[in-house]
Amino acid sequence: MDYIPLSFVSILFFCACSASPPNFILLFADDLGFGDLGCYGHPTSLTPNLDRLAAAGLRFTDFYCTSPVCTPSRASLLTGRYQTRSGVYPGVLYPGSIGGLPLNETTIAEVLKPQGYATAAVGKWHLGVGANGTYLPTRQGFDEYLGIPYSHDMGPCRNLTCFPPDVKCFGLCDVGTVTVPLMKNDAIIQQPVNFLDLEKAYSDFATSFIITSATKKQPFFLYYPSHHTHYPQYAGPEAAGRTLRGPFGDSLFEFDNTIGNLLETLEKTQIINNTLIFFTSDNGPELMRMSRGGNAGLLKCGKGTTYEGGMREPAIAFWPGTIQPGVTHEMASTLDILPTFASLAGAKLPTVMLDGVDMTEILTNQGKSKRETMMFYPTDPSEMYGLFALRMGKYKAHFYTRGATHSGTTPDQDCPVFAVLKAHDPPLLFDLEADPSEHYPLTLFGRPDLQEVVDKIMKEKEKFEATMVFGRSEISKGTDPNLEPCCNPQCSPKPRCCQC
Ligand SMILES: *[C@@H]1O[C@H](CO)[C@@H](O)[C@H](O)[C@H]1NC(C)=O
Ligand SMILES: *[C@@H]1O[C@H](CO)[C@@H](O)[C@H](O)[C@H]1NC(C)=O
Ligand SMILES: *[C@@H]1O[C@H](CO)[C@@H](O)[C@H](O)[C@H]1NC(C)=O
Ligand SMILES: *[C@@H]1O[C@H](CO)[C@@H](O)[C@H](O)[C@H]1NC(C)=O
Repeated sequence: MDYIPLSFVSILFFCACSASPPNFILLFADDLGFGDLGCYGHPTSLTPNLDRLAAAGLRFTDFYCTSPVCTPSRASLLTGRYQTRSGVYPGVLYPGSIGGLPLNETTIAEVLKPQGYATAAVGKWHLGVGANGTYLPTRQGFDEYLGIPYSHDMGPCRNLTCFPPDVKCFGLCDVGTVTVPLMKNDAIIQQPVNFLDLEKAYSDFATSFIITSATKKQPFFLYYPSHHTHYPQYAGPEAAGRTLRGPFGDSLFEFDNTIGNLLETLEKTQIINNTLIFFTSDNGPELMRMSRGGNAGLLKCGKGTTYEGGMREPAIAFWPGTIQPGVTHEMASTLDILPTFASLAGAKLPTVMLDGVDMTEILTNQGKSKRETMMFYPTDPSEMYGLFALRMGKYKAHFYTRGATHSGTTPDQDCPVFAVLKAHDPPLLFDLEADPSEHYPLTLFGRPDLQEVVDKIMKEKEKFEATMVFGRSEISKGTDPNLEPCCNPQCSPKPRCCQC
């Protein structure tokens, strides 16, 4: 046969590898940097299960999140859109925030539901709670939820136990707000949360969701945004004290153990060959926590900055039989996960301006990325300043640079908050293939070829910004202490009485 229609080939492809639409497990680490995993070079991290995913799957070297802080990064992950469009900026949401991820945004869960998927979220939500739980996962396409709806340091933690038998959490966390709640769907089931039991509860919830879906032969989407390895680190008895790396290593090991439990469950239920697991992290390491703050490896600075350390992340895609083991240098982003899952599930894309592209080809045959550029917005994007940086191919141009509180304490003077906003005209240009650490800005003088690159980048910037309509800022709507989740709503004096 010398002519096979393309559609026929793709039907064959699906019939060969998946009788039914694939299951998706999306693992999202918190404040975990490019250099934090064993399979990304950390000498004392203990991540046997992530290393197994990396060895048998595809490991990315050039994978980006969209914001150097939690909330906006999560908004982009779930919607495939830059956070500026959805209005999930500046900074992050708080327990009493009035806003959240707008309900008219379409999440991955909402994309997959019409295809018959069961959907569950477990762990750190951080896309809003709001009045009467307006913005909780159950209102954004997830059938079930178990977790803390924001960062686990967003409540007083001085008297809480983070490691067994009774090692108190390191630091004070946020005082003056309610203690951190654990929620099942829309209800608070524990306040404050018990950190020593938490990972086991998450693992049990996730494995039971997989078993139930497998038994019903229903395809599923499990979203597990972990609290690990965000400050203050914690771990239960199975992980505490088990690594050479200390509290950070133990908390990472605890997350890795859960990944091991998920793998075992997929094997037992015999659906592992029809399940795509994708792992990445929300933003770079919080260097201000020093040895408890994660590591950006050879990348510059960390959380809060638009240098590589703030937004380039480890990423692994695992799907036995479909994804061949390897390493890819193709550029990809959390933005691309929604279009990719939609394409693999045969689901319709939302009819909105998407910033993500389908990366199925990178996954299945290690082809070229459709992504030509990556945009870097600061923690507080504005129309006045626009993009802080833009990567096109191997070149990254910085239009503005700035340090951040979260990136304090390293010897690099460009990282801490004292490195104030600096405009660059012409932009600071780096070749990220030759110089991933952004150490050596390229000189344009006498290099017409590089001047041409800069001109092209400026054109891309202009084109992109012309299409960017900033959504109304959700985070600027402010906070109302009455909205802080309280298990005993009528009690007083708040916030201290919110304990059950
Ligand atoms: C959601 O609603 C807001 C307010 O009406 C609107 O400005 C925005 O464009 C809508 N977003 C989408 C994705 O439809
Ligand atoms: C929340 O629910 C309560 C009780 O159902 C209702 O009285 C109140 O108006 C609701 N608040 C909002 C903002 O919807
Ligand atoms: C911690 O416990 C001590 C002693 O029980 C108490 O005095 C203090 O108010 C508690 N602090 C917080 C932040 O809960
Ligand atoms: C998954 O596929 C591999 C070969 O790629 C095979 O050895 C294994 O038995 C399959 N597992 C299941 C549960 O079908």
